[in-house]
Amino acid sequence: MKKVLTAQNVYKIYGAHGKNPFEALTDINFEMEQGDFICVMGPSGAGKSTFVNTLSTIDMPTKGKVIALGNDVRQMSEKQIGEFRYENIGFIFQEFNLIDSLNVFENIALPLVLAGRPEKEVQDLAMEQIHRIHIDDIRKKYPNEISLGQKQRIAIARAIVTKPEMIVADEPTGNLDSKNSFEILSYFHKINKEDNITILMVTHNAKIASYAKKFIFIKDGKISHTLERGDMSQKEFYYKIVEINNEESQSFIS
Ligand SMILES: Nc1ncnc2c1ncn2[C@@H]1O[C@H](COP(=O)(O)OP(=O)(O)OP(=O)(O)O)[C@@H](O)[C@H]1O
Ligand SMILES: [Mg+2]
Repeated sequence: MKKVLTAQNVYKIYGAHGKNPFEALTDINFEMEQGDFICVMGPSGAGKSTFVNTLSTIDMPTKGKVIALGNDVRQMSEKQIGEFRYENIGFIFQEFNLIDSLNVFENIALPLVLAGRPEKEVQDLAMEQIHRIHIDDIRKKYPNEISLGQKQRIAIARAIVTKPEMIVADEPTGNLDSKNSFEILSYFHKINKEDNITILMVTHNAKIASYAKKFIFIKDGKISHTLERGDMSQKEFYYKIVEINNEESQSFIS
């Protein structure tokens, strides 16, 4: 199976050369293969965002190796990393990050335009996503004229319009109600299954996490639990995830 991301003995120390260094990731070893759908949970401040950012080239490890699609990221130039990210990773954040002065169609098409794709291809690929998420009727509207759930669907369409190898999503449903959250998750499930897009997602919600194929729990900058869904039903997987979260939250009470 093709390896998408590998972390070997990765440390992330914020302010490593300053007066108050902070070790946010400690000796992380992790592998993600093509087609994986991995969900990351853990308490606030545990290092989840640092983990996904350090693994997905947004940030650099302080020590250790991150290998992204066979490339050792510390051996790559800024320019190579930028291009790599552009071509291979779709990012989705809690705040959507849509551009207010562009309409829905233009927001979705932006990564294609920036990548210099021919106009016909831009049109076709952006429209394909628009049909797929059923937003034809709002494609000419601007971000301030649409709902939160619609904004997040557009952020997802924009992230996958270039057909990236993987999606990295940091609390993609953090600002959504449950109906919209589960719609988004069904969509993730679909692109993972049908397009074989690898997904790495952070969430605070065990139900959302149960859509993944694999679960990891991060605590104090370390991976403290790893759980594969395997043959478990989604419900069984959900209960296991809840159990781990409960165990971990009780460990704060002495
Ligand atoms: N730029 C930074 N400089 C110094 N410390 C940082 C920086 N970014 C994050 N940290 C610290 O690193 C730790 C991990 O932060 P991170 O954002 O990864 O947590 P998280 O698990 O994503 O939390 P949340 O669930 O609240 O989003 C926290 O203690 C945080 O204060
Ligand atoms: Mg975070």
